[in-house]
Amino acid sequence: MYNEIDLDKFDISSDPPTEEPARQYYFMAKCREWVRALEQKNGCRPTAFIQTFGCQMNARDSEKLQGILTQVGFREAKDEKADFVLYNTCTVRENANQKVYGRLGYLNTLKKKNPHMLIALCGCMMQEPDVVRKIKKSYGFVDIVFGTHNIFKLAELICQRLEQKNRIVDILDGTDQIVEELPTERKFPFKSGVNIMFGCNNFCSYCIVPYVRGRERSRQPEDILAELQKLVSEGVVEVMLLGQNVNSYGKTLEHPVTFAQLLRQIEEIEGLRRIRFMTSHPKDLSEELIQVMRESTKICHHLHLPVQSGSTRILKVMNRRYTKEQYLELVERIREAVPDISLTTDIIVGFPGESEEDFLETMDVVERVRFDSAFTFIYSRRTGTPAASMEGAVPEEVVKDRFDRLLTRVQQISSEVCARDLHTTREVLVETVDGHLDGYVTGRMDNNTVVHFPGDSSLIGSIVPVYLEESKGFYYMGTAASR
Ligand code: SAH
Ligand code: SF4
Ligand code: F3S
Repeated sequence: MYNEIDLDKFDISSDPPTEEPARQYYFMAKCREWVRALEQKNGCRPTAFIQTFGCQMNARDSEKLQGILTQVGFREAKDEKADFVLYNTCTVRENANQKVYGRLGYLNTLKKKNPHMLIALCGCMMQEPDVVRKIKKSYGFVDIVFGTHNIFKLAELICQRLEQKNRIVDILDGTDQIVEELPTERKFPFKSGVNIMFGCNNFCSYCIVPYVRGRERSRQPEDILAELQKLVSEGVVEVMLLGQNVNSYGKTLEHPVTFAQLLRQIEEIEGLRRIRFMTSHPKDLSEELIQVMRESTKICHHLHLPVQSGSTRILKVMNRRYTKEQYLELVERIREAVPDISLTTDIIVGFPGESEEDFLETMDVVERVRFDSAFTFIYSRRTGTPAASMEGAVPEEVVKDRFDRLLTRVQQISSEVCARDLHTTREVLVETVDGHLDGYVTGRMDNNTVVHFPGDSSLIGSIVPVYLEESKGFYYMGTAASR
Protein backbone atom coordinates (compact mmCIF):
# COMPACT_ATOMS: atom_id res chain seq x y z
CA MET A 1 0.00 0.00 0.00
CA TYR A 2 1.44 3.38 -1.00
CA ASN A 3 4.84 1.78 -1.26
CA GLU A 4 5.71 3.74 -4.38
CA ILE A 5 6.61 6.94 -2.51
CA ASP A 6 9.49 8.79 -4.12
CA LEU A 7 11.52 9.88 -1.12
CA ASP A 8 13.98 11.75 -3.37
CA LYS A 9 11.29 14.39 -3.82
CA PHE A 10 11.79 15.55 -0.27
CA ASP A 11 14.38 18.20 0.47
CA ILE A 12 15.76 17.11 3.81
CA SER A 13 17.94 20.21 4.15
CA SER A 14 14.83 22.34 4.69
CA ASP A 15 12.50 22.25 7.71
CA PRO A 16 10.08 19.33 8.01
CA PRO A 17 6.52 19.87 6.72
CA THR A 18 3.86 20.14 9.43
CA GLU A 19 1.13 18.22 7.55
CA GLU A 20 0.80 14.41 7.66
CA PRO A 21 1.70 12.20 5.90
CA ALA A 22 4.19 14.55 4.11
CA ARG A 23 6.00 15.11 7.40
CA GLN A 24 6.63 11.39 7.78
CA TYR A 25 7.87 11.02 4.20
CA TYR A 26 10.38 13.78 4.98
CA PHE A 27 11.64 11.88 8.05
CA MET A 28 11.75 8.62 6.11
CA ALA A 29 13.99 10.34 3.57
CA LYS A 30 16.17 11.64 6.39
CA CYS A 31 16.34 8.27 8.10
CA ARG A 32 17.31 6.70 4.79
CA GLU A 33 20.43 8.87 4.72
CA TRP A 34 21.51 7.48 8.06
CA VAL A 35 20.82 3.91 6.95
CA ARG A 36 22.89 4.48 3.80
CA ALA A 37 25.77 5.95 5.81
CA LEU A 38 25.75 2.94 8.11
CA GLU A 39 25.75 0.65 5.09
CA GLN A 40 28.82 2.46 3.70
CA LYS A 41 30.56 2.12 7.02
CA ASN A 42 29.77 -1.55 7.65
CA GLY A 43 29.85 -2.73 4.06
CA CYS A 44 26.40 -4.31 4.32
CA ARG A 45 22.81 -3.12 4.64
CA PRO A 46 21.62 -2.54 8.22
CA THR A 47 18.95 -4.96 9.40
CA ALA A 48 15.76 -4.53 11.42
CA PHE A 49 13.63 -6.98 13.38
CA ILE A 50 10.10 -6.53 14.74
CA GLN A 51 8.66 -8.90 17.33
CA THR A 52 4.90 -8.66 17.67
CA PHE A 53 2.99 -9.66 20.80
CA GLY A 54 -0.80 -9.70 21.20
CA CYS A 55 -3.70 -9.55 18.80
CA GLN A 56 -4.32 -8.97 15.09
CA MET A 57 -4.45 -5.21 15.67
CA ASN A 58 -0.85 -5.33 16.77
CA ALA A 59 0.04 -7.64 13.89
CA ARG A 60 -1.41 -5.10 11.47
CA ASP A 61 0.40 -2.23 13.22
CA SER A 62 3.64 -4.19 12.82
CA GLU A 63 3.06 -4.43 9.08
CA LYS A 64 2.84 -0.64 9.00
CA LEU A 65 5.99 -0.30 11.11
CA GLN A 66 7.76 -2.78 8.84
CA GLY A 67 6.58 -0.76 5.84
CA ILE A 68 8.35 2.31 7.23
CA LEU A 69 11.55 0.37 8.03
CA THR A 70 11.67 -1.15 4.54
CA GLN A 71 11.08 2.27 3.03
CA VAL A 72 14.06 3.74 4.84
CA GLY A 73 16.27 0.91 3.62
CA PHE A 74 16.54 -1.67 6.41
CA ARG A 75 16.75 -5.31 5.42
CA GLU A 76 14.42 -7.58 7.40
CA ALA A 77 16.27 -9.71 9.97
CA LYS A 78 14.91 -13.04 11.16
CA ASP A 79 15.82 -12.55 14.82
CA GLU A 80 17.05 -9.99 17.34
CA LYS A 81 20.63 -10.01 16.06
CA ALA A 82 19.87 -6.84 14.10
CA ASP A 83 20.76 -3.13 13.99
CA PHE A 84 17.23 -2.05 14.89
CA VAL A 85 14.98 -4.13 17.14
CA LEU A 86 11.39 -3.18 17.89
CA TYR A 87 9.05 -4.97 20.28
CA ASN A 88 5.38 -4.22 19.60
CA THR A 89 3.91 -5.12 22.98
CA CYS A 90 0.59 -6.34 24.43
CA THR A 91 -0.71 -5.87 27.97
CA VAL A 92 -4.10 -7.57 27.89
CA ARG A 93 -2.98 -10.10 30.52
CA GLU A 94 -0.06 -10.00 32.93
CA ASN A 95 1.81 -12.85 31.21
CA ALA A 96 1.95 -10.76 28.02
CA ASN A 97 3.97 -8.15 29.97
CA GLN A 98 6.24 -10.73 31.57
CA LYS A 99 7.27 -12.04 28.17
CA VAL A 100 8.57 -8.61 27.18
CA TYR A 101 10.53 -8.00 30.38
CA GLY A 102 11.93 -11.51 30.04
CA ARG A 103 13.42 -10.75 26.63
CA LEU A 104 14.76 -7.26 27.35
CA GLY A 105 17.75 -8.65 29.26
CA TYR A 106 18.75 -10.62 26.18
CA LEU A 107 18.52 -7.47 24.03
CA ASN A 108 20.91 -5.73 26.40
CA THR A 109 23.56 -8.42 25.89
CA LEU A 110 23.17 -8.06 22.11
CA LYS A 111 23.53 -4.29 22.29
CA LYS A 112 26.80 -4.60 24.15
CA LYS A 113 28.17 -6.48 21.15
CA ASN A 114 26.76 -4.04 18.57
CA PRO A 115 27.04 -0.41 19.73
CA HIS A 116 25.08 0.85 16.70
CA MET A 117 22.08 -1.19 17.74
CA LEU A 118 18.86 0.73 18.43
CA ILE A 119 16.21 -0.79 20.67
CA ALA A 120 12.62 0.44 20.55
CA LEU A 121 9.46 -0.53 22.41
CA CYS A 122 5.95 0.36 21.33
CA GLY A 123 2.37 -0.84 21.57
CA CYS A 124 -0.21 -1.29 24.29
CA MET A 125 2.10 -1.91 27.24
CA MET A 126 3.80 1.46 26.66
CA GLN A 127 0.48 3.26 27.21
CA GLU A 128 0.73 2.31 30.90
CA PRO A 129 2.55 4.99 32.92
CA ASP A 130 3.90 2.40 35.41
CA VAL A 131 5.52 0.45 32.63
CA VAL A 132 7.20 3.53 31.14
CA ARG A 133 8.48 4.52 34.60
CA LYS A 134 9.98 1.07 35.05
CA ILE A 135 11.63 1.11 31.60
CA LYS A 136 13.12 4.55 32.28
CA LYS A 137 14.44 3.47 35.66
CA SER A 138 15.69 -0.05 35.03
CA TYR A 139 16.17 -0.46 31.28
CA GLY A 140 18.45 2.42 30.37
CA PHE A 141 19.57 0.73 27.15
CA VAL A 142 16.16 1.17 25.49
CA ASP A 143 16.47 3.96 22.89
CA ILE A 144 12.91 4.73 21.83
CA VAL A 145 9.57 4.24 23.60
CA PHE A 146 6.28 5.07 21.91
CA GLY A 147 2.66 4.02 22.23
CA THR A 148 -0.29 2.94 20.14
CA HIS A 149 -1.37 6.38 18.89
CA ASN A 150 1.80 7.41 17.08
CA ILE A 151 3.16 4.36 15.29
CA PHE A 152 3.04 6.38 12.06
CA LYS A 153 5.85 8.52 13.54
CA LEU A 154 8.48 5.77 13.65
CA ALA A 155 10.87 7.46 11.17
CA GLU A 156 10.55 10.80 12.99
CA LEU A 157 11.33 9.17 16.33
CA ILE A 158 14.39 7.38 14.93
CA CYS A 159 15.66 10.71 13.54
CA GLN A 160 15.11 12.40 16.89
CA ARG A 161 17.02 9.69 18.68
CA LEU A 162 19.94 9.94 16.26
CA GLU A 163 20.12 13.71 16.59
CA GLN A 164 19.64 14.01 20.34
CA LYS A 165 21.57 10.96 21.50
CA ASN A 166 19.12 10.73 24.42
CA ARG A 167 16.35 8.23 24.89
CA ILE A 168 13.12 9.29 23.18
CA VAL A 169 9.81 8.71 24.96
CA ASP A 170 6.74 9.75 23.00
CA ILE A 171 3.41 8.61 24.39
CA LEU A 172 0.08 10.27 23.64
CA ASP A 173 -2.87 9.78 25.98
CA GLY A 174 -5.24 9.56 23.06
CA THR A 175 -5.85 10.82 19.57
CA ASP A 176 -8.54 11.49 17.04
CA GLN A 177 -5.99 11.44 14.25
CA ILE A 178 -5.98 8.65 11.65
CA VAL A 179 -3.00 9.02 9.31
CA GLU A 180 -3.71 7.42 5.93
CA GLU A 181 -1.38 6.64 3.05
CA LEU A 182 1.68 5.31 4.79
CA PRO A 183 3.68 2.35 3.51
CA THR A 184 2.94 -1.18 4.76
CA GLU A 185 4.83 -4.42 4.29
CA ARG A 186 2.34 -7.30 4.27
CA LYS A 187 3.24 -10.67 5.71
CA PHE A 188 1.16 -12.62 3.20
CA PRO A 189 0.73 -11.64 -0.46
CA PHE A 190 -2.77 -13.14 -0.73
CA LYS A 191 -4.47 -12.10 2.53
CA SER A 192 -4.44 -9.02 4.67
CA GLY A 193 -5.91 -7.45 7.77
CA VAL A 194 -7.49 -4.04 7.29
CA ASN A 195 -8.36 -1.75 10.18
CA ILE A 196 -11.85 -0.38 9.91
CA MET A 197 -11.78 1.25 13.33
CA PHE A 198 -9.45 1.90 16.23
CA GLY A 199 -9.96 1.96 19.99
CA CYS A 200 -12.88 0.81 22.11
CA ASN A 201 -15.66 2.49 24.08
CA ASN A 202 -17.03 -0.51 25.90
CA PHE A 203 -15.04 -0.56 29.10
CA CYS A 204 -15.67 -4.19 30.01
CA SER A 205 -14.65 -4.04 33.66
CA TYR A 206 -11.72 -6.48 33.38
CA CYS A 207 -10.23 -5.04 30.19
CA ILE A 208 -7.34 -2.64 29.71
CA VAL A 209 -7.79 -2.19 25.94
CA PRO A 210 -9.91 1.02 26.10
CA TYR A 211 -7.21 2.63 28.27
CA VAL A 212 -4.31 1.70 26.01
CA ARG A 213 -6.03 2.00 22.62
CA GLY A 214 -8.16 5.06 23.29
CA ARG A 215 -11.69 5.95 22.22
CA GLU A 216 -13.46 4.34 19.32
CA ARG A 217 -12.65 5.94 15.94
CA SER A 218 -13.95 4.63 12.61
CA ARG A 219 -12.15 5.10 9.32
CA GLN A 220 -14.06 6.73 6.47
CA PRO A 221 -15.71 4.10 4.26
CA GLU A 222 -14.03 5.62 1.16
CA ASP A 223 -10.60 5.15 2.73
CA ILE A 224 -11.36 1.53 3.63
CA LEU A 225 -12.71 0.77 0.16
CA ALA A 226 -9.73 2.44 -1.53
CA GLU A 227 -7.33 0.40 0.59
CA LEU A 228 -9.21 -2.81 -0.22
CA GLN A 229 -9.25 -2.05 -3.96
CA LYS A 230 -5.53 -1.49 -3.86
CA LEU A 231 -4.92 -4.73 -1.95
CA VAL A 232 -7.02 -6.73 -4.40
CA SER A 233 -5.12 -5.21 -7.32
CA GLU A 234 -1.94 -6.49 -5.64
CA GLY A 235 -3.30 -10.04 -5.45
CA VAL A 236 -5.10 -10.16 -2.10
CA VAL A 237 -8.11 -12.50 -2.16
CA GLU A 238 -9.01 -12.62 1.56
CA VAL A 239 -9.37 -9.73 3.98
CA MET A 240 -9.89 -9.59 7.71
CA LEU A 241 -11.66 -6.41 8.77
CA LEU A 242 -10.27 -5.44 12.15
CA GLY A 243 -11.76 -3.60 15.11
CA GLN A 244 -12.29 -4.26 18.84
CA ASN A 245 -16.02 -4.11 18.20
CA VAL A 246 -16.71 -4.11 14.46
CA ASN A 247 -20.46 -4.18 15.08
CA SER A 248 -20.39 -0.59 16.23
CA TYR A 249 -18.44 0.55 13.15
CA GLY A 250 -19.44 3.93 11.71
CA LYS A 251 -21.50 5.18 14.64
CA THR A 252 -19.13 8.06 15.36
CA LEU A 253 -18.65 9.18 11.74
CA GLU A 254 -19.97 12.55 10.64
CA HIS A 255 -22.20 10.67 8.18
CA PRO A 256 -22.93 7.46 10.10
CA VAL A 257 -22.67 4.15 8.22
CA THR A 258 -23.49 0.75 9.70
CA PHE A 259 -21.12 -2.18 9.61
CA ALA A 260 -23.64 -4.09 7.51
CA GLN A 261 -23.76 -1.24 4.96
CA LEU A 262 -19.96 -1.20 4.81
CA LEU A 263 -19.94 -4.97 4.20
CA ARG A 264 -22.41 -4.58 1.34
CA GLN A 265 -20.04 -2.13 -0.34
CA ILE A 266 -17.02 -4.35 0.26
CA GLU A 267 -18.87 -7.31 -1.24
CA GLU A 268 -18.99 -5.40 -4.57
CA ILE A 269 -15.21 -5.35 -4.94
CA GLU A 270 -14.39 -7.51 -7.91
CA GLY A 271 -11.62 -10.04 -7.36
CA LEU A 272 -12.08 -10.11 -3.58
CA ARG A 273 -13.06 -13.67 -2.67
CA ARG A 274 -13.34 -13.90 1.10
CA ILE A 275 -14.32 -11.40 3.78
CA ARG A 276 -13.67 -12.04 7.47
CA PHE A 277 -14.03 -9.71 10.43
CA MET A 278 -13.28 -9.56 14.12
CA THR A 279 -14.27 -8.95 16.83
CA SER A 280 -18.04 -8.93 17.16
CA HIS A 281 -19.53 -7.78 20.43
CA PRO A 282 -22.81 -9.65 21.03
CA LYS A 283 -24.57 -6.54 22.32
CA ASP A 284 -24.14 -4.70 18.99
CA LEU A 285 -24.72 -7.55 16.54
CA SER A 286 -27.65 -6.33 14.45
CA GLU A 287 -30.37 -8.14 12.53
CA GLU A 288 -29.14 -6.22 9.49
CA LEU A 289 -25.70 -7.86 9.86
CA ILE A 290 -27.25 -11.32 10.10
CA GLN A 291 -29.14 -10.62 6.87
CA VAL A 292 -25.99 -9.46 5.09
CA MET A 293 -24.17 -12.59 6.23
CA ARG A 294 -27.02 -14.73 4.93
CA GLU A 295 -27.12 -13.07 1.52
CA SER A 296 -23.39 -12.62 0.98
CA THR A 297 -21.37 -14.96 -1.21
CA LYS A 298 -18.06 -13.66 0.13
CA ILE A 299 -18.46 -13.28 3.89
CA CYS A 300 -16.93 -16.37 5.48
CA HIS A 301 -19.22 -18.57 7.52
CA HIS A 302 -17.30 -17.94 10.68
CA LEU A 303 -18.17 -15.67 13.55
CA HIS A 304 -15.99 -14.97 16.57
CA LEU A 305 -18.48 -14.02 19.25
CA PRO A 306 -16.83 -13.69 22.66
CA VAL A 307 -19.19 -14.69 25.47
CA GLN A 308 -16.68 -14.21 28.35
CA SER A 309 -19.01 -15.85 30.91
CA GLY A 310 -22.27 -17.78 30.92
CA SER A 311 -23.48 -16.25 34.17
CA THR A 312 -25.82 -13.28 33.76
CA ARG A 313 -24.73 -12.03 37.17
CA ILE A 314 -21.04 -12.06 36.22
CA LEU A 315 -21.78 -10.62 32.77
CA LYS A 316 -23.40 -7.68 34.49
CA VAL A 317 -20.38 -7.02 36.69
CA MET A 318 -18.17 -7.44 33.63
CA ASN A 319 -20.24 -4.66 32.02
CA ARG A 320 -20.88 -6.79 28.92
CA ARG A 321 -24.47 -5.57 28.61
CA TYR A 322 -26.14 -8.84 27.57
CA THR A 323 -27.55 -11.77 29.53
CA LYS A 324 -26.92 -15.48 29.11
CA GLU A 325 -30.35 -15.83 27.51
CA GLN A 326 -29.77 -12.97 25.09
CA TYR A 327 -26.50 -14.54 24.00
CA LEU A 328 -28.10 -17.95 23.43
CA GLU A 329 -30.98 -16.40 21.57
CA LEU A 330 -28.58 -14.47 19.34
CA VAL A 331 -26.70 -17.68 18.52
CA GLU A 332 -30.00 -19.30 17.59
CA ARG A 333 -30.93 -16.46 15.23
CA ILE A 334 -27.52 -16.55 13.55
CA ARG A 335 -27.70 -20.33 13.12
CA GLU A 336 -31.16 -20.08 11.64
CA ALA A 337 -29.95 -17.58 9.02
CA VAL A 338 -26.57 -19.23 8.34
CA PRO A 339 -26.93 -22.91 9.32
CA ASP A 340 -23.33 -23.99 8.63
CA ILE A 341 -21.78 -21.07 10.52
CA SER A 342 -18.74 -21.86 12.60
CA LEU A 343 -18.85 -20.12 15.97
CA THR A 344 -15.83 -19.40 18.12
CA THR A 345 -15.56 -17.52 21.39
CA ASP A 346 -13.44 -16.15 24.25
CA ILE A 347 -14.08 -17.18 27.85
CA ILE A 348 -12.61 -15.81 31.08
CA VAL A 349 -12.41 -18.05 34.15
CA GLY A 350 -11.98 -16.77 37.69
CA PHE A 351 -13.40 -13.26 37.39
CA PRO A 352 -13.70 -11.72 40.91
CA GLY A 353 -16.69 -13.19 42.73
CA GLU A 354 -17.19 -16.09 40.27
CA SER A 355 -18.88 -18.91 42.21
CA GLU A 356 -19.10 -22.58 41.24
CA GLU A 357 -22.71 -21.88 40.11
CA ASP A 358 -21.53 -19.03 37.88
CA PHE A 359 -18.90 -21.29 36.40
CA LEU A 360 -21.46 -24.02 35.73
CA GLU A 361 -23.50 -21.47 33.78
CA THR A 362 -20.46 -20.94 31.57
CA MET A 363 -20.14 -24.72 31.11
CA ASP A 364 -23.82 -24.78 30.21
CA VAL A 365 -23.32 -22.21 27.42
CA VAL A 366 -20.43 -24.31 26.12
CA GLU A 367 -22.70 -27.41 26.06
CA ARG A 368 -25.54 -25.61 24.37
CA VAL A 369 -23.66 -23.64 21.74
CA ARG A 370 -21.02 -26.28 20.96
CA PHE A 371 -18.38 -23.80 19.75
CA ASP A 372 -15.99 -24.77 16.96
CA SER A 373 -13.29 -23.52 19.27
CA ALA A 374 -12.91 -21.31 22.29
CA PHE A 375 -10.00 -19.29 23.62
CA THR A 376 -10.01 -19.77 27.36
CA PHE A 377 -8.27 -17.31 29.66
CA ILE A 378 -7.58 -17.14 33.37
CA TYR A 379 -8.68 -13.75 34.68
CA SER A 380 -5.73 -11.41 34.99
CA ARG A 381 -5.95 -8.32 37.18
CA ARG A 382 -5.16 -5.17 35.18
CA THR A 383 -4.23 -2.03 37.12
CA GLY A 384 -6.65 0.84 36.52
CA THR A 385 -9.61 -1.28 35.43
CA PRO A 386 -12.77 -1.38 37.60
CA ALA A 387 -12.40 -5.14 38.20
CA ALA A 388 -8.95 -4.60 39.72
CA SER A 389 -10.55 -3.18 42.86
CA MET A 390 -13.40 -5.72 43.07
CA GLU A 391 -13.56 -8.09 45.99
CA GLY A 392 -13.95 -11.84 45.83
CA ALA A 393 -10.70 -12.94 44.21
CA VAL A 394 -11.05 -16.63 43.35
CA PRO A 395 -8.30 -18.81 44.91
CA GLU A 396 -5.69 -19.94 42.41
CA GLU A 397 -6.32 -23.68 42.81
CA VAL A 398 -10.07 -23.18 42.27
CA VAL A 399 -9.41 -21.18 39.11
CA LYS A 400 -6.98 -23.80 37.86
CA ASP A 401 -9.49 -26.59 38.45
CA ARG A 402 -12.26 -24.70 36.64
CA PHE A 403 -9.96 -23.81 33.79
CA ASP A 404 -8.95 -27.45 33.30
CA ARG A 405 -12.55 -28.65 33.36
CA LEU A 406 -13.55 -26.00 30.85
CA LEU A 407 -10.64 -26.66 28.53
CA THR A 408 -11.23 -30.42 28.50
CA ARG A 409 -14.88 -29.96 27.55
CA VAL A 410 -14.16 -27.23 24.99
CA GLN A 411 -11.62 -29.46 23.27
CA GLN A 412 -13.88 -32.53 23.25
CA ILE A 413 -16.72 -30.58 21.68
CA SER A 414 -14.40 -28.84 19.28
CA SER A 415 -13.04 -32.10 17.87
CA GLU A 416 -16.61 -33.41 17.42
CA VAL A 417 -17.88 -30.22 15.78
CA CYS A 418 -14.87 -29.71 13.53
CA ALA A 419 -15.33 -33.17 11.99
CA ARG A 420 -18.74 -32.32 10.58
CA ASP A 421 -17.51 -31.64 7.03
CA LEU A 422 -15.72 -34.99 6.72
CA HIS A 423 -16.10 -36.63 3.28
CA THR A 424 -17.24 -33.44 1.58
CA THR A 425 -15.39 -31.18 -0.86
CA ARG A 426 -14.63 -27.67 0.38
CA GLU A 427 -12.78 -24.66 -0.95
CA VAL A 428 -9.41 -24.16 0.71
CA LEU A 429 -7.25 -21.03 0.46
CA VAL A 430 -3.67 -22.36 0.39
CA GLU A 431 -1.48 -20.39 2.80
CA THR A 432 1.87 -22.17 3.17
CA VAL A 433 3.91 -25.20 2.30
CA ASP A 434 3.33 -27.71 5.11
CA GLY A 435 5.96 -27.36 7.81
CA HIS A 436 5.85 -31.03 8.83
CA LEU A 437 4.89 -33.12 5.81
CA ASP A 438 7.02 -33.01 2.68
CA GLY A 439 5.01 -32.51 -0.52
CA TYR A 440 1.99 -31.08 1.34
CA VAL A 441 0.48 -27.62 1.60
CA THR A 442 -1.66 -26.06 4.35
CA GLY A 443 -4.70 -23.86 3.92
CA ARG A 444 -7.97 -22.78 5.48
CA MET A 445 -11.58 -23.47 4.74
CA ASP A 446 -14.06 -20.63 4.73
CA ASN A 447 -14.98 -21.49 8.33
CA ASN A 448 -11.29 -21.13 9.28
CA THR A 449 -10.56 -24.87 9.80
CA VAL A 450 -7.07 -25.92 8.70
CA VAL A 451 -6.61 -28.51 5.93
CA HIS A 452 -3.40 -30.24 4.81
CA PHE A 453 -3.24 -31.83 1.37
CA PRO A 454 -0.65 -32.87 -1.24
CA GLY A 455 0.57 -29.92 -3.32
CA ASP A 456 3.46 -27.52 -3.87
CA SER A 457 4.29 -23.85 -3.38
CA SER A 458 2.74 -22.89 -6.74
CA LEU A 459 -0.66 -23.28 -5.05
CA ILE A 460 -0.01 -20.62 -2.37
CA GLY A 461 -2.64 -17.91 -2.60
CA SER A 462 -5.09 -19.90 -4.69
CA ILE A 463 -8.45 -21.29 -3.63
CA VAL A 464 -8.58 -25.03 -4.35
CA PRO A 465 -11.49 -27.49 -3.94
CA VAL A 466 -10.29 -30.19 -1.54
CA TYR A 467 -11.92 -33.49 -0.60
CA LEU A 468 -11.75 -33.89 3.20
CA GLU A 469 -10.62 -37.47 3.72
CA GLU A 470 -9.71 -37.65 7.36
CA SER A 471 -10.55 -35.55 10.41
CA LYS A 472 -7.76 -35.13 12.94
CA GLY A 473 -9.80 -33.31 15.57
CA PHE A 474 -8.92 -29.71 14.85
CA TYR A 475 -7.81 -30.10 11.24
CA TYR A 476 -8.30 -32.27 8.16
CA MET A 477 -6.15 -34.26 5.79
CA GLY A 478 -7.48 -34.05 2.23
CA THR A 479 -6.77 -34.37 -1.46
CA ALA A 480 -7.27 -31.77 -4.19
CA ALA A 481 -10.53 -32.55 -5.97
CA SER A 482 -10.70 -32.23 -9.75
CA ARG A 483 -12.42 -28.98 -10.73
N1 SAH B 1 -12.48 -6.66 21.71
C1 SAH B 1 -12.54 -8.02 21.82
C2 SAH B 1 -11.43 -8.71 22.61
C3 SAH B 1 -10.19 -8.03 22.97
S1 SAH B 1 -9.15 -8.80 24.13
C4 SAH B 1 -13.87 -8.38 22.45
O1 SAH B 1 -14.51 -7.59 23.08
O2 SAH B 1 -14.23 -9.52 22.35
C5 SAH B 1 -9.26 -10.52 23.74
C6 SAH B 1 -9.77 -11.36 24.86
O3 SAH B 1 -8.90 -11.30 25.96
C7 SAH B 1 -11.10 -10.94 25.42
O4 SAH B 1 -12.18 -11.37 24.66
C8 SAH B 1 -11.09 -11.56 26.79
O5 SAH B 1 -11.62 -12.87 26.76
C9 SAH B 1 -9.62 -11.64 27.13
N2 SAH B 1 -9.27 -10.70 28.18
C10 SAH B 1 -9.34 -9.36 28.15
N3 SAH B 1 -8.96 -8.85 29.34
C11 SAH B 1 -8.66 -9.90 30.14
C12 SAH B 1 -8.21 -10.02 31.48
N4 SAH B 1 -8.02 -8.96 32.26
N5 SAH B 1 -7.99 -11.27 31.97
C13 SAH B 1 -8.19 -12.35 31.22
N6 SAH B 1 -8.62 -12.30 29.95
C14 SAH B 1 -8.85 -11.08 29.40
FE1 SF4 C 1 -12.01 -5.02 25.94
FE2 SF4 C 1 -14.62 -5.17 26.04
FE3 SF4 C 1 -13.48 -3.42 24.40
FE4 SF4 C 1 -13.34 -6.02 23.88
S1 SF4 C 1 -15.19 -4.79 23.95
S2 SF4 C 1 -11.67 -4.55 23.81
S3 SF4 C 1 -13.20 -6.92 25.91
S4 SF4 C 1 -13.42 -3.38 26.64
FE1 F3S D 1 -2.99 -6.83 23.46
FE2 F3S D 1 -3.30 -4.38 22.70
FE3 F3S D 1 -4.33 -6.32 21.28
S1 F3S D 1 -3.41 -5.10 24.77
S2 F3S D 1 -4.76 -7.90 22.77
S3 F3S D 1 -2.19 -6.00 21.61
S4 F3S D 1 -5.20 -4.30 21.58
